[in-house]
Amino acid sequence: MDTYLAVASKRDWRRYADRPIPEDVVIRILDAGRLAGSGSNRQPWTFVLVADRQRKERLAESVYVAGNVLEAGLVIGIATPEGGRALDVGRAMQNMMLAAWNDGVVSCPNGMPDRAQTGEVLGLEGDLQPVIILTFGYPRRPLDPGSRSAEEWSREANRRPLEEVVKRI
Ligand SMILES: Cc1cc2nc3c(=O)[nH]c(=O)nc-3n(C[C@H](O)[C@H](O)[C@H](O)COP(=O)(O)O)c2cc1C
Repeated sequence: MDTYLAVASKRDWRRYADRPIPEDVVIRILDAGRLAGSGSNRQPWTFVLVADRQRKERLAESVYVAGNVLEAGLVIGIATPEGGRALDVGRAMQNMMLAAWNDGVVSCPNGMPDRAQTGEVLGLEGDLQPVIILTFGYPRRPLDPGSRSAEEWSREANRRPLEEVVKRI
């Protein structure tokens, strides 16, 4: 297991191949989300798997980048009471995306301008509101995280340098 390599090589992908994701991979992705730690182990999330084509098309219209959803082989909305507990959701979504990466499946988080509209498309009831929509799919071009070391992936990442983000006191 080289989790650092997985973390360092993971990028968000927005174009997906027209290829279905097998059910065992889907279950692993969902289970990775389920296993995430959360504050006081509240597990405040509901994972809404959007399979219906019409629903997907309506969902695509409700996020910032429609193509992400339309092309995706797997779409999962994460909802919580009042759309809160963002830290918990962040842990669950990163677990899901890294588990997918491990299976050669790429992914991207999607925000939305109007949570109520997206919540309606997802059929959410009560106080549940969407926090993020995750899209997954097989890549259109070859994906080989092992082609470089974690350090190389890290060096070329479009990220602020450590010296800028770390404060030692
Ligand atoms: C909370 C959140 C919301 C995001 N919303 C969108 C989005 O609506 N559309 C999109 O294409 N990417 C979205 N992203 C992906 C970011 O643009 C991406 O994580 C960032 O640019 C780094 O990309 P990279 O890992 O490929 O370098 C979102 C990411 C996060 C964490």
